[in-house]
Amino acid sequence: MSKIYIEGGVPLKGRIRVKGAKNSCLPIMAASLLVPGEITLCEIPDLEDVRTMTSLLRLLGVKVRHDRRNEKVELDSRHLITCTAPYGPVRRMRASFLVAGPLLTRMGRARISHPGGCAIGVRPIDLHLKGLVAMGAEFTMGDGFIDIVAPRLTGAHIYLDYPSVGATENILMAAVLASGTTRIDNAAAEPEVVDLANFLSSLGARIEGAGSSLITVEGVSSLKGGLAKPYTVIPDRIEAGTFMAAAAMTGGDLIIENVIPGHLTAVSAKLTEAGAEVETADSRTIRVRPRGRPRAVEIKTLPYPGFPTDLQPQFMALLTLAQGTSVIRETVFEKRFTQVEELARMGARIRIEGRSAIITGRQFLQGAAVRAADLRGGASLVLAGLAARGITEIRGLHHIRRGYSRLVGRLRSVGARIFISP
Ligand code: EPZ
Repeated sequence: MSKIYIEGGVPLKGRIRVKGAKNSCLPIMAASLLVPGEITLCEIPDLEDVRTMTSLLRLLGVKVRHDRRNEKVELDSRHLITCTAPYGPVRRMRASFLVAGPLLTRMGRARISHPGGCAIGVRPIDLHLKGLVAMGAEFTMGDGFIDIVAPRLTGAHIYLDYPSVGATENILMAAVLASGTTRIDNAAAEPEVVDLANFLSSLGARIEGAGSSLITVEGVSSLKGGLAKPYTVIPDRIEAGTFMAAAAMTGGDLIIENVIPGHLTAVSAKLTEAGAEVETADSRTIRVRPRGRPRAVEIKTLPYPGFPTDLQPQFMALLTLAQGTSVIRETVFEKRFTQVEELARMGARIRIEGRSAIITGRQFLQGAAVRAADLRGGASLVLAGLAARGITEIRGLHHIRRGYSRLVGRLRSVGARIFISP
């Protein structure tokens, strides 16, 4: 299995460009099932999760061409051949469940292998099902599959007990062609939800309130594929935040291009509080320069616009080097501390109390052999290796490849001594 080797202690300097958002690509690719026509998507990075979604859509009968070099994906969902999403792709990627709403709309049925949990939590789908049932669907569970049927979806007023991103997206995709009006109350407001809504609107959907807690959808009779111009997904705010933390940890000076600063307000605020200089150079660029050793801060992960849970592990790595004691409270996922033991192997001093991590900062981390258990935990270990003294060897590269495209090469381009060994 490939490993990442890092010789730490090198300040990252230069310009690095953020790629398209993984968590926009996946729902938008799933939404192509709604359109019996050709769709072109731009800024789609070559990620393992994009490859998994591509293979799932092909199993369903979608023609998919991913021009990896130009980060463009062409999809044609005219001839679907099955409504079953099998165990393989669903087990590899829980976001496969995002085909439920579109399949139900298009074929009146969605038979999906149960996505199960993952390293960071149980990951229930009760809110997805609650919304679809409210719109007239019925489901049964058996032989490892969830079998959802709905001859016709009708608009409904749905209250989400938690502003679930995936549930909001599945219900939104089911609502755009349902008969009547759907209101999603306590909806997720993440930028990726807005991106999905903008994509659907570009095809003729009638959606209001995306980005707020109340989304209203007027069902239409059809969506227009083929005629619509190519759709470009938003930049990945989580990748941008990862690079921001890397600059702060290595004492570097990074100019991070192709960002939307408004999507990073909480992240920039926290980094500034920790003592880094965060400058919005222009509407699509952020410059990060630390001023000495980071200062301890308190972080609480929350639904957007709160501090994103997907940057909690990366900021934990930063805070292991801070002056003073920091506290991170992870309110979104119940097990998202997989990186703690591995960071401790590098000398970090972290104590877990329930859903809180108490981090006593140290002057230095020491390189070590560590293992990634999930995507963002793996990113956290890369950052720690970049800042540590000596050599860090990271196993579990496949986790990192799910959400970061060509990460090693891009970090090397700003000075990191990092490479992949066979
Ligand atoms: C999306 O996952 C993202 N994935 C996650 O990013 C991200 O961490 C998460 O939103 C939160 O922002 C994609 O967009 C593909 P949720 P999702 O439904 O939709 C509870 C990454 O690293 N919940 O908002 O699965 C759930 O238990 C990934 O890129 C229910 O209770 O997240 C959790 O506590 C990791 N019932 C909370 O909501 C449900 O039916 C947040 O989950 C659904 C969710």
